[in-house]
Amino acid sequence: MTTSDTPIIDVHAVSYTLEIAGRPLHILRNVSLRVNPAEVVAIVGPSGSGKTSLLMLLAGLEQASSGRLTINGATLAGLDEDDLARFRRRTMGIVFQSFHLIPSLTALDNVGLALEIASPELSQAQVREMAAAALAAVGLANRLDHRPTALSGGEQQRVGLARAMVANPPLLLADEPTGNLDQETGALVIKLMFDLARERGTAVVLITHDPALAARADRVLTMTQGELVETPVAR
Ligand SMILES: Nc1ncnc2c1ncn2[C@@H]1O[C@H](COP(=O)(O)OP(=O)(O)O)[C@@H](O)[C@H]1O
Ligand SMILES: [Mg+2]
Repeated sequence: MTTSDTPIIDVHAVSYTLEIAGRPLHILRNVSLRVNPAEVVAIVGPSGSGKTSLLMLLAGLEQASSGRLTINGATLAGLDEDDLARFRRRTMGIVFQSFHLIPSLTALDNVGLALEIASPELSQAQVREMAAAALAAVGLANRLDHRPTALSGGEQQRVGLARAMVANPPLLLADEPTGNLDQETGALVIKLMFDLARERGTAVVLITHDPALAARADRVLTMTQGELVETPVAR
């Protein structure tokens, strides 16, 4: 169980180094990060500085070279691929830069499938109802039966957000969730993420280039050449 004094993310001295053409490429250097439930943390920094790489490590999609990642009380290094997949489904929603929707499935089924996988105990009717509610929350109640190709980029991104939040995970990871959206849709997506934090206690880690979005976060961290530094937020 997570209580308010147990961090959902506890990353200690993590490095991530790849070997490229026989030489080490230091992507993350000695990164430490704690995030509590209901906190919204923005990560900013130039392109290529390592932001997406950090998100991949937090999601257990890549492995750290050294250091320790504990997410929702589980130490990722101790989990095999199957455990990791199960853990990911239960613990986090991920909103990627590209949407990764399944092209052959409708919006409702894209969201429903994610929920079914995360919560196999639900009935078909419950899955449909919850998936429809998540899509309604992102303003897509009238797009349930549309396949991704019949949706705009902004609508696809909102389906991605509905999919990430439908199982009510304690952690939401988002990589530039408003990068491809017009201002109005971006504002809606941002509001939804902040609502999740306030109303459900979801911890949100979001990568953004948008200074206005970063300024609304509880904390802002800046990634520079693989190093993560907390930036005092001017209020
Ligand atoms: N699998 C990989 N192979 C080679 N280089 C990589 C790989 N993943 C990331 N990098 C490099 O690591 C650096 C950080 O990338 P990334 O985390 O995507 O940065 P950001 O999200 O801040 O733009 C970049 O220089 C990128 O080219
Ligand atoms: Mg990136």
